[in-house]
Amino acid sequence: MAEGKTAIVTGGSRGIGREVALRLADLGYDIAIVYIGDENEAAETVRDCEAKGVKAKAYVCNVASFEETKAVVAEIRKDFGPLWILVNNAGITRDGLIAFMKEEDWDSVLGVNLKGAFNMIRHTAALFIRNKGGRIVNISSVSGLMGNAGQANYSASKAGIVGLTKSTARELAPKGITCNAVAPGFIRTDMTKNITEDNSELLRTIPLGRMGDVSDVASAVVFLLSSPYITGEVLRVDGGIAM
Ligand code: NAI
Repeated sequence: MAEGKTAIVTGGSRGIGREVALRLADLGYDIAIVYIGDENEAAETVRDCEAKGVKAKAYVCNVASFEETKAVVAEIRKDFGPLWILVNNAGITRDGLIAFMKEEDWDSVLGVNLKGAFNMIRHTAALFIRNKGGRIVNISSVSGLMGNAGQANYSASKAGIVGLTKSTARELAPKGITCNAVAPGFIRTDMTKNITEDNSELLRTIPLGRMGDVSDVASAVVFLLSSPYITGEVLRVDGGIAM
């Protein structure tokens, strides 16, 4: 599927993003990881991608910043070949009941999860258009489709991802660029380390009766990235939660 060779994966240092990066490296893509936080995790992902015979590099960049994302896309463009794939996966939670939610918790979650995806699409769209094609996948959440008590900020950001995905898909379709979203349910990563499968109440909400693995999500991402006739779609990977 490699028309161009470069894939950008935000939040690719660990969790779902890391698995997506590894799967794309398996397919022969060079990998640019955009992340914030633990540099050892990022270095490990880069090493594991390189071990698959592709070029890989990690860039520290706060996706919530318009200027930082502009600079990082320019740097990636210098370091790598033509861009073919963007996966907007970086995300955070700052949960709390809406009656008590701090303004900064609203702003930071919307900033990273929603504006972050906008920033990355904004700064890469011209590159995709110039290359006459490309693939974008944004990571939403079932929380954005159904709502979730205690996650007003997170749900709003992930519902926003759905609108962003569909508008981007419509706008860039004439240029041969697809844009889709994946909406995971409960996936075992650092983000959900406080949720255990011993919680039978949680398991009752999941028809398939288990939390998902990062590979469940990565498979859906790769499917959408390799599907030239699917755009504007939101694919749930949630064990049936939001059906
Ligand atoms: P994680 O916490 O394991 O990894 C998050 C990644 O995002 C890290 O690589 C981190 O460096 C990066 N990141 C965080 N803030 C950033 C910023 N300001 N700028 C650049 N990078 C930043 O998270 P996980 O679980 O792998 O989640 C990945 C995506 O999937 C997120 O968008 C999350 O909302 C979404 N998701 C996760 C679910 C789960 O159950 N784990 C369920 C539904 C959606």
